[in-house]
Amino acid sequence: MKRIAIFGSTGSIGRQTLQVVESFPDRFRIVGLAAGRNAVLLAEQVKRFGVRCAWVQDSPTAMRLTEQFRRDGYKDCQVLHSHETVETFLERSDPDVVVSAISGQAGLYPTYCSAKAGLDIALANKESLVMMGPLLMQMVQQKGSRLTPVDSEHSAIMQCLAGEARESVRRLILTASGGPFRRDTMAQLQKRSFRETQRHPVWNMGEKINVDSATLMNKGLEVIEACALFDRSPDEVDVLVHPESIVHSMVEFVDGSWKAQIAVPNMELPILYSLSAPQRFDWETRGLTPEQLSSLHFERVDRLRFRCLDIAYEAVRAGGSMPSVLCTADEIAIEYFRNGTISFTEIPEVIEATMRQHHVVSIESLESILAVKKWTTQVAENEARKLADKR
Ligand SMILES: NC(=O)c1ccc[n+]([C@@H]2O[C@H](COP(=O)([O-])OP(=O)(O)OC[C@H]3O[C@@H](n4cnc5c(N)ncnc54)[C@H](OP(=O)(O)O)[C@@H]3O)[C@@H](O)[C@H]2O)c1
Repeated sequence: MKRIAIFGSTGSIGRQTLQVVESFPDRFRIVGLAAGRNAVLLAEQVKRFGVRCAWVQDSPTAMRLTEQFRRDGYKDCQVLHSHETVETFLERSDPDVVVSAISGQAGLYPTYCSAKAGLDIALANKESLVMMGPLLMQMVQQKGSRLTPVDSEHSAIMQCLAGEARESVRRLILTASGGPFRRDTMAQLQKRSFRETQRHPVWNMGEKINVDSATLMNKGLEVIEACALFDRSPDEVDVLVHPESIVHSMVEFVDGSWKAQIAVPNMELPILYSLSAPQRFDWETRGLTPEQLSSLHFERVDRLRFRCLDIAYEAVRAGGSMPSVLCTADEIAIEYFRNGTISFTEIPEVIEATMRQHHVVSIESLESILAVKKWTTQVAENEARKLADKR
């Protein structure tokens, strides 16, 4: 029986992880749940899974959660809150594996603490690998723990690489759905709204990742993640648009062979594999039908319309603190796009302008990441405001 704690249990990945766990009651047990501010849903989840330790983002949410438990007569759960108690949450819940699925940079610290505690990590939070990939992988290696990706693309690559020698690999090919605006002209892209970014053609995801999918920054972040996760240079990682999202990613080998991982586009499968690997658990209903394979398409990314992919390659080539700058500037740009201050096509402009002003430093600790984040926030906000003033 694997004991699981989830950071971000109220989000899209967190909720799907709980569905997976419910399908395998003799394999998995939830021992800790952590979320941001959705006390109502978290209370429901805690009761449903009989969890004894819950963690939330701040004290007002902890009070609402405690009050909810009091009203329901539920006395079994200890409620913790804020950064300072993340380690206590891990100690008290005592998991074998942590699912790291908080969105954005708020997910960094829980991932860091889990790695520091030597726990296995099923990683969904992108920022952890993008901003502290080499540091995180080094911690995991030193502790002898395991980090398995939840993202369908990296899960696919991990599966393709199983049993293969490092030197047999020519390149990793990440597939991308192309997002909701794949066929847009530049003029159409300029007018796209935040609300329109939330209608992804294939995946049902959180708000921020939906915008990143529309700009293709999501694929750029995945390129950076793949470099850290599989210890590859950016030149060994390629991207292809594959709108059906059936082929989740591929590996080309030096003898000309390709391997692909193919499955229905459903996050529950890679979530399950992140928890079961290298084993596979019987899940009959999740199969593909041959008809779904009858027409698969692949095309190159239009890098002029979707600038964010090249920007991400630039960031990972620069190394050190640059991916952190990319990540933070992207979060800021999305915030300004969301509140209508900048347009969809101005998102890459804010990121590029911020990166141009940055002098790369090495990332050796969480503190150095926070310093870079502070600098980037100021510069990116300034760049977004400058764009708005030009109108
Ligand atoms: N969704 C996908 O299909 C998918 C696929 C691959 C990778 N990912 C990655 O997985 C991560 C989660 O994505 P998602 O789509 O599940 O996001 P989401 O639906 O927006 O959920 C985010 C979760 O994080 C929690 N949270 C947000 N800010 C927090 C804070 N400051 N402190 C503590 N908890 C906080 C939220 O809690 P409350 O709701 O309670 O406030 C919620 O549980 C992201 O990094 C994303 O890029 C997602």
